Amino acid sequence: MPGTRSQYKAKTAAAKLDAPTIEGIVNYIKKNDVKRIIVMSGAGISTDSGIPDFRSKGTGLYDNLQKFNLPYAEAIFDIDYFMEKPEPFYALAKELYPGKYYPTKTHYFIRLLHEKGMLLRNFTQNIDTLERLAGLDEDLIVEAHGSFATASCVECKNVADPAQVKKKVLKGEVARCSSCDGLIKPDITFFGQNLPKRFFKRLHDFSEADLLIVIGTSLQVQPFASLIDDVPDYVPRLLINKEKAGDHHTSHSGFDFKWKYGKKRDALFLGDCNEGVQKFAELMGWKDDLESLYNKEHAKLKSIWEAETLAEKVEKEHEAEEEEKQIEKETKSEDEKQHKEIEALAKVLEEKLHIPSDPQESKDRSNATSSSK
Ligand code: OAD
Repeated sequence: MPGTRSQYKAKTAAAKLDAPTIEGIVNYIKKNDVKRIIVMSGAGISTDSGIPDFRSKGTGLYDNLQKFNLPYAEAIFDIDYFMEKPEPFYALAKELYPGKYYPTKTHYFIRLLHEKGMLLRNFTQNIDTLERLAGLDEDLIVEAHGSFATASCVECKNVADPAQVKKKVLKGEVARCSSCDGLIKPDITFFGQNLPKRFFKRLHDFSEADLLIVIGTSLQVQPFASLIDDVPDYVPRLLINKEKAGDHHTSHSGFDFKWKYGKKRDALFLGDCNEGVQKFAELMGWKDDLESLYNKEHAKLKSIWEAETLAEKVEKEHEAEEEEKQIEKETKSEDEKQHKEIEALAKVLEEKLHIPSDPQESKDRSNATSSSK
């Protein structure tokens, strides 16, 4: 049932922030029963873990693809280009493959929102799977541009074995389908491809949200960027980013940071996202919660990875030892084989040249020959 105009007006009035800042947002949360926050995130939340974003000048991925000789930077994620030339994507995938990158404070802040019973969903454009690694339940995540977690054949759509694909990627080789020999591609959404079904299935979340937080994205890729306009008009929106993105100057609708139209619902934190979320947590009274969640989970991952690295080292040493033993065995049997061949050859020669195998017999025979002269 849609509400009445006066209910809508009351809600809209209640949504006005007292400042276009994180403080304004936190005051709003404290005064209202906020429980359905949507977080929209992008590559900026992972840069602190060592993964480059796409469009930052100098450090962004698209400024560092010269070695691949692409017709234009985004071609590396273009499906038509991939079908013709998969090698550049595979070479890049080797560099980007989710490995031992730690989730950042911002990832744990999103998880903390959930633990505080306030997260409706995290719509992420990231393919690095760090949200999962930070312990956020799969159901709470919408990977709008897919991820490296699964892979399939671009021709017959067969699901590929992720372990096999990973092996190929890490060797820098192109993976091919075991049934039709088509190209295998990690299920990342390329330009020219549809977004995952789950993205469309969960779009109605936006009409149910009571706060929108956008973190670490330039909001340049559609349809993701336009989702900021899918929350109802009275819902406050906060952008935490190093630069302004998605405002009225750069897009048709978008954020209204200047409050020109009297809505007073958009807020901005310009700077590093980890600093932004720490400030947010502090103002909410969650500073220690965020700190201890981050420290605990980070230490857990560190010890798992250290154990894995050790196990990998032991396995590699074991493999090297086995290989050495095998070579030794092969050399030994090669020596034995050669020895047998020489013996056989010597025997043939003895027979052909009538050389006695007993040296005494040979001596006798030669003495007999000289005395008969
Ligand atoms: P972009 O590289 O376009 O934008 C990242 C944004 O994060 C920029 O505005 C940076 O200024 C900001 N930023 C970087 N580090 C930050 C930090 N530590 N704190 C705060 N802000 C920071 O990345 P996305 O918007 O995520 O598609 O890019 C969207 C899509 O474009 C990606 O999903 C990718 C790409 O083509 C696919 O992979 C299919």
